[in-house]
Amino acid sequence: MAVDTPATDALQGAVGPAVVDVRGVEKRFANGTQALAPVDLAVRPGEFVTLLGPSGCGKSTLLRAIAGLTQPSAGALRWWGGDAGHVGEPGRKLVFVFQDATLMPWTRVRANVRLPLDLAGVPRDEADARVDASLALVGLAKFDRHYPRELSGGMQMRTSIARALVTEPDLLLLDEPFGALDEITRNKLDADLLELWWRKRFTVMFVTHSIYEAVFLSTRVVVMSARPGRVFREIVIDAPHPRTEAFRVTQEFAAYAKLLSECLMEASTEGAPSRNAGAPNGTAGAPQGNDGAPDGTAGASSRGVAAMAGKPGASA
Ligand SMILES: Nc1ncnc2c1ncn2[C@@H]1O[C@H](COP(=O)(O)OP(=O)(O)OP(=O)(O)O)[C@@H](O)[C@H]1O
Ligand SMILES: [Mg+2]
Repeated sequence: MAVDTPATDALQGAVGPAVVDVRGVEKRFANGTQALAPVDLAVRPGEFVTLLGPSGCGKSTLLRAIAGLTQPSAGALRWWGGDAGHVGEPGRKLVFVFQDATLMPWTRVRANVRLPLDLAGVPRDEADARVDASLALVGLAKFDRHYPRELSGGMQMRTSIARALVTEPDLLLLDEPFGALDEITRNKLDADLLELWWRKRFTVMFVTHSIYEAVFLSTRVVVMSARPGRVFREIVIDAPHPRTEAFRVTQEFAAYAKLLSECLMEASTEGAPSRNAGAPNGTAGAPQGNDGAPDGTAGASSRGVAAMAGKPGASA
């Protein structure tokens, strides 16, 4: 069973039921590939949780199961304490952002962003106002008449995120959304996404290969082991929000990057799931007293909790 970090325990007390509760979820595909060993994971309201792990370990599969895009072979998922039938109700909306922007090339940015509202039958005036607000949030207000081919890769991803935000999601699921972009653009989009998360207070689950991206963005990083994927370890990034670019050049950032790098190395080379038996989420095996490195698990820390718990209502 899952072992929550102290920070998530505290969050649970502070803010209610899990947004997503993954219990013993496994996935075996029709061709026999077992993508996920039993996975236990709870995500609390307002968290920014990143899934990090070796290629092919099942990050996308897990995120897609959470989005309802693939059915688990075993185990159970709960969303906001209920079943899938309640997803989409007010306060329980989730949206998935793919690695590719997946825009309709034949129509303008504005129509691309309005698509989910058109499909939902939202009246045109209301939809237009929401599209304007969403484009403004991602800094594309002046590009609403452009076609996707007239945008840079980063701008196309912004459009994709605007299309997600226009639905006013409570849970945003992003699968390597900036993986194909250059580092400078990615850093900028990371900072903008983090600022949005801070302002809008939705819950985020984010998949990346980048240790630096994981440290910069996350309140908690879930490191997955090599296939079949399972939760190898959870590390709370106990640095206050709002975070700015300045965070990237702190010793704290470097120490977290080192900790994650070591953890990822271990997770990548691990074979059978016996090593962490009894502590599937790895909290018991988390590195501690790491010569000044932040201890993401033991440190779970009141500072991180305070930063998280203080998020609602802060600096809106
Ligand atoms: N539809 C499918 N049918 C069969 N096997 C699949 C299918 N989708 C994924 N897999 C396999 O499941 C495993 C996990 O895939 P998944 O895409 O979830 O990994 P990932 O961690 O997201 O990898 P990456 O970091 O490369 O995106 C891989 O071995 C993959 O080949
Ligand atoms: Mg993937």
